[in-house]
Amino acid sequence: MTKLPAPDPARLASLREALLAADYTADGCLDLLGPTGYAALARSEAVPALRATRGGTPLETLVRLFLLQQPVPYPAAAAALPVEECLADGWLTRDGGDVRATVDVRPYANEVAGLDSSDAWVVSDLGCAVGGAGGIGAGGSAAGVARGELVLGVGGASTTLAGLAVRRPVRAALDLGAGSGVQALHAARHAQRVTATDLNPRALAFSRLTLALSGFDNTETAQGSLFEPVGERRFDLIVSNPPFVISPASRFVYRDGGMAGDELCRSLVRGAAAHLEPGGYCQLLANWQHVKGEDWHERLAGWVAGTGLDAWVVQREVQDVAQYAELWLRDGGDHLAPRTVYEARYNEWLDAFEAARVEGIGFGWITLRAGGAAQPTVRIEEWPHPVEQPLGPHIEQWFARQDFLRGHDDRALLAARYLLADEVVQEQVGPPGAEDPEHVVLRHNRGMRRATKVDTVGAGFAGVCDGSLTAGEILDAIAQLLREDPSRLRDRAPDSLRLLVEQGFVEPATLPQR
Ligand SMILES: C[S@@+](CC[C@H](N)C(=O)[O-])C[C@H]1O[C@@H](n2cnc3c(N)ncnc32)[C@H](O)[C@@H]1O
Repeated sequence: MTKLPAPDPARLASLREALLAADYTADGCLDLLGPTGYAALARSEAVPALRATRGGTPLETLVRLFLLQQPVPYPAAAAALPVEECLADGWLTRDGGDVRATVDVRPYANEVAGLDSSDAWVVSDLGCAVGGAGGIGAGGSAAGVARGELVLGVGGASTTLAGLAVRRPVRAALDLGAGSGVQALHAARHAQRVTATDLNPRALAFSRLTLALSGFDNTETAQGSLFEPVGERRFDLIVSNPPFVISPASRFVYRDGGMAGDELCRSLVRGAAAHLEPGGYCQLLANWQHVKGEDWHERLAGWVAGTGLDAWVVQREVQDVAQYAELWLRDGGDHLAPRTVYEARYNEWLDAFEAARVEGIGFGWITLRAGGAAQPTVRIEEWPHPVEQPLGPHIEQWFARQDFLRGHDDRALLAARYLLADEVVQEQVGPPGAEDPEHVVLRHNRGMRRATKVDTVGAGFAGVCDGSLTAGEILDAIAQLLREDPSRLRDRAPDSLRLLVEQGFVEPATLPQR
């Protein structure tokens, strides 16, 4: 294993001070590079950023060193950093009269819903901050690291999971498959103690650097597979962006779980119940197989069945087997290999899918909660539309609304009061100029950004939900207006009301409001 920088707390504190003094922060870099340069970097394009960092200020030097991975003259580095300490500790290495970074150190705005963002840095392998192993070229390796052990920085999946996590002040959190430590970094702000685990010891070394450089001392690391390193310990929050890729061979530890098909994600779901405190959440990103002749909903229901956990599974996307193979061939840099090698690897993926009768692969989010109900709520659905991140607060509310619905029969539902959720609008759909719309849609511009068709009663009902009347009283008033029989309206309303509550268009007035 290539030696990584030493995680000495005092030395890390002086490095952190230098980074802050130079304004090497997410905001500082955005100001320097501008939105165009910043966005180009996210696409692995460095030219705009190189043009913006020609002046030699400490911030420009740090961006060149750690973001763009360019050699910089020793005196410039000395003006920006405790350079001799950084050389001795292994952050930098000499290259003639220049110095170079040995690792990627990327400013990160550590945002947690409900708290101010705080300056943090994520440390990962050179060249891997954006994209997969393909980012460093087919034949190359980062600083002599075996490609299979590369530790990636923050990617799209990392930020998705960070936004989904339920962020309550809690005692203990677990980041399973911590990699660079980015999920642990978020959790360290609202959990008293965070445990970061990973199969790859290099990943844990990076996690320790990320957390210590960002100033956290409430974290620990433990090496091993899945839940094995934590024994029988329980947590209030488990987050995992696991190596979910369904691949024919285990080539990259950061993505290939090394188990057949989608077994790694299934194992995580099956193992969660034994590691959750009452009320605790386990949230993970996952891929699952769509197998010929099997309904994917049932496959996922089978993962959750018998765990005793409430579950909300959202499928965001489905790719066919060829798209999927190409995605991960490109991620691994295989598209840069000779054509015959590329085609042989492509065939390996398709052979494995064919043998397992896999027709497509679902991508999605799984939230599990140890709600303690005798009959847990399990919702498995497809929602490919844009959502509002961070979704964490909405996910917590969704579970609270499920509890409410489970605890209220139709009579109790009608006896309760409701509030129209924030930013719900009504849209009328029909030919221009028509007197009556063909249908009415309620659209919620927050959270999952749901839309649902409603009838006149549903629209009228939602519109007057201000908590002053019970649902039954509102329905009686609507019945009078429409000259309908109130008891018939009361009989047919609960199903629609349940849907409006479940999807968050109206919220029970007794629940804490966001
Ligand atoms: C996709 S990366 C996620 C990194 C980071 N948590 C994030 O959100 O960006 C998956 C991580 O899981 C680790 N891993 C692979 N197999 C594992 C296993 N069986 N048990 C635990 N971690 C594993 C990999 O080393 C890698 O660091």
